[in-house]
Amino acid sequence: MNLVLWFALLGAFPGKDPVVLRLAGPSSAVGGIGAWTRRVAEAWARQQGIQLEYIDTPAKSDERLALFQQYWAARSPDIDVYTIDVIWPALAAPHALDLTPYVDTADLRDFFPVYLQNNRVEGKLVALPFYADAGLLYYRRDLLQAYGYDHPPRTWSELEAMAERVQKGERARGDRDFWGFVWQGQRYEGLTCNALEWVASHGGGTFVDTGGRVTLENPQVVKALARARRWVGWISPPGVTAYIEEDARNLFQNGHVLFMRNWPYAYALLSSSGSPVRGKFAVAVLPRSAEPGGRHAATLGGWQLMVSRYSRHPEQAVALVRYLTSAALQKQRAREMSLLPTRRSVYEDPEVQRMHPWWTVARKVLTSAVARPSSVTGRRYNRVSQAIYDAVHRVLTGEWTAEQAVRQMAVRIRKALRHRR
Ligand code: GLC
Repeated sequence: MNLVLWFALLGAFPGKDPVVLRLAGPSSAVGGIGAWTRRVAEAWARQQGIQLEYIDTPAKSDERLALFQQYWAARSPDIDVYTIDVIWPALAAPHALDLTPYVDTADLRDFFPVYLQNNRVEGKLVALPFYADAGLLYYRRDLLQAYGYDHPPRTWSELEAMAERVQKGERARGDRDFWGFVWQGQRYEGLTCNALEWVASHGGGTFVDTGGRVTLENPQVVKALARARRWVGWISPPGVTAYIEEDARNLFQNGHVLFMRNWPYAYALLSSSGSPVRGKFAVAVLPRSAEPGGRHAATLGGWQLMVSRYSRHPEQAVALVRYLTSAALQKQRAREMSLLPTRRSVYEDPEVQRMHPWWTVARKVLTSAVARPSSVTGRRYNRVSQAIYDAVHRVLTGEWTAEQAVRQMAVRIRKALRHRR
């Protein structure tokens, strides 16, 4: 058939063009999350007679945001559905389709209220919760037992004492590269998550309080940061200041680490067949400071699905988001991964409970998790967080003292909050 005839025929049946939906999903570089999302989204699309294109994204939250902001600035219809971090709803809101008319109020009640509140910006439902996240302490149960400890550390001092002793013992037994504690210390959003946990667990607040006041100039913040600085090179490898989550997980998974701070996704990977630590580890709440005012603090994380306001196929895009956040799919996910569900009903399912007995701990941690100050700082959160992770990173590498960092952070955060855009 000649080309002219082809085009004439296509023009005669414009409705026959297949719908192409583009989903910017979780990164394929982070422990199977991207690959899983792509697989289930493609399977759904095939059933619907839709074509799905999966847009892979960088592993680091900040880099994903920078990428998405380019599409948003251009009001681009090239991405229909975005996976957004729990800290972005204010930034994303102007570019989001309001999901309120598309969702059933009774069904919405199944989601954790903290996420729904978080995802509502000036009355607009910006996104639906895809998976929940909160910081956890992973520990080697076998090693703690071998060294005579019958419980994971409850305070940071306990963690330090256990880490020092086991590290020394394991190195003496020949594992020269053994370390006590790994976490993500690179200069990026992941470090803000850790810094919040250190500070809040010392009773030092949340940098900016819910009323928008800058509260970080207090001695507990200095103590928390100075403590983390001491870990580097002592119980944590010097390279920890260049780690993201996956670096910490790889080290822990290879069996040369006692404690790790990480998110729930790591659990399934650590338990997979062939993992050297399979069956040897457990999770607990992160330690607190032993001083009065100390509390267990986990940073609230999590990813949400948003439909672009510039999408050419909003109906189909909403259907995809509803499918990806449905109870049935979250239950299916529970069979294959350890990402935490965002719906309460999924935790109550007896089959799910049998698969993940540790979700009892995870759910408790999640429901008492500490939010980063993103709701109160809104579109300026990004700059607030940059001020935090820049300064904290300089403390960890020894460039600034904790006192200097606190002063610098306070100046930068006040400035960021003054400039209303
Ligand atoms: C996890 C959390 C997210 C956080 C990120 C930082 O993906 O879910 O909220 O911003 O880690 O690395």
